[in-house]
Amino acid sequence: MMTTSSTRVRAFVANFAMGIAIGFVLSYIYLGDSMNRAGNQIQAVRRSPESSGEHNHVDEHVVGDEFDPHDEETIDGVSGPKGDVKFHSGSEMHHQDEDVVAQAIKKKVRILCWILTGEQNHEKRAKHVKATWARRCNKYVFMSSKADDDLPAINLNVSEGRDYLWAKTKAAFKWAHDHELSEYDWFLKADDDTYVIVENLRYMLLPHNADEPVYFGCKFKPFTTQGYMSGGAGYVLSREALRKFVTEGLTDEKKCSTGHGGAEDAEMGKCLERIGVKAGDSRDGEGHHRFLPFVPEHHLIPGHVDPNFWFWRYIYYPMDQGQGCCSDHAISFHYVNPNLMYVLEYLIYHLRPYGINSRFVAADGAEVDRKSVNEKAVVSAAWNAAVLNMGADDVFRKTVNGSLRPESERSNDVNSERCHTPMCFCQF
Ligand SMILES: *[C@@H]1O[C@H](CO)[C@@H](O)[C@H](O)[C@H]1NC(C)=O
Ligand SMILES: *[C@@H]1O[C@H](CO)[C@@H](O)[C@H](O)[C@H]1NC(C)=O
Repeated sequence: MMTTSSTRVRAFVANFAMGIAIGFVLSYIYLGDSMNRAGNQIQAVRRSPESSGEHNHVDEHVVGDEFDPHDEETIDGVSGPKGDVKFHSGSEMHHQDEDVVAQAIKKKVRILCWILTGEQNHEKRAKHVKATWARRCNKYVFMSSKADDDLPAINLNVSEGRDYLWAKTKAAFKWAHDHELSEYDWFLKADDDTYVIVENLRYMLLPHNADEPVYFGCKFKPFTTQGYMSGGAGYVLSREALRKFVTEGLTDEKKCSTGHGGAEDAEMGKCLERIGVKAGDSRDGEGHHRFLPFVPEHHLIPGHVDPNFWFWRYIYYPMDQGQGCCSDHAISFHYVNPNLMYVLEYLIYHLRPYGINSRFVAADGAEVDRKSVNEKAVVSAAWNAAVLNMGADDVFRKTVNGSLRPESERSNDVNSERCHTPMCFCQF
């Protein structure tokens, strides 16, 4: 009896001591972990991309390495491949004639891309933009503080540094206005860490008229009534918007800030709002976003981003986190380091799941043989599809021309005397 009870007491003491020891270990692990977290939180309190001027916000998003960057500092040091990167020849059988539609639209939606860079980034970043997406623009030019005929880059004669981004942007658009206004329909501003799928940009713009005062990008809420476009995802001005910006905005200090500093994108947004340039809705017909301000992983993985991250308070239209974030016809991603540019290039333009082809369809869903029809009919079909894919809140909305009629009526058209192509329901 006695023995049993003292054994129990001993067992109790041993368990108790063991419990305390485990408790210490656990709390040590826990404390250590939360101290690490606190450290990360402090590190994460850094300037966000738009915070160079009046609006500083705290980046509560904890992760912030080169694979999931949220500010320029994070990818400043990241360099791309040293030599030239060789691409596939493009002569593979499955790539033959795949861009017939895109080439037809390219003639109708002419885009000048200007890419903001700096002397220190010609080799590190601009070179890789040139090697990947920029060549798909009708024309591209890098805006810098040093001229370089090879890129080509223009010296804007504006000081380097984040504090001069607004001045650089004004000078770059002024250059585009003075030299190229009549040659192009749309004028895209992108950064040297923006990746643009130019064909999808043209597809969104196709039903819009470059004589409309409108611009598109990833729309943010603050500082304006109609919203403004986040700088990093890139934004595109119509010819009329550019004309107004230079002749009505830059000439009037009450409309556009004459300083060199301030957040470039917010300044641009305020200025364009005051001169009557409308902020378009760049989402697609299903409400998915086309201009994405971060790398794909950031948007595509549910739960990846802290709900308190400043972005959720800034974004104008709701955006899902997860695969529902992004349009199948996404236009841009930001904070893309040079290596990722080549990865995207391969995934978007080369890799094909065998046996799965994207269909080219007219507005009523009928499949169109892109090679058997003339260019005008191809563009017409694409135009109608683009109208159906317009953002719900878009300004200068269009209606589809004579389509969406029952199949029976449509086949009557095809057989009627007036109609000789499957797309005759898209009247020019
Ligand atoms: C920058 O200055 C140089 C020398 O004065 C001039 O030739 C050049 O046109 C200027 N660049 C721009 C974009 O104004
Ligand atoms: C559709 O109709 C509008 C308005 O009549 C016209 O401006 C546009 O060019 C037409 N588009 C096509 C592709 O037929």
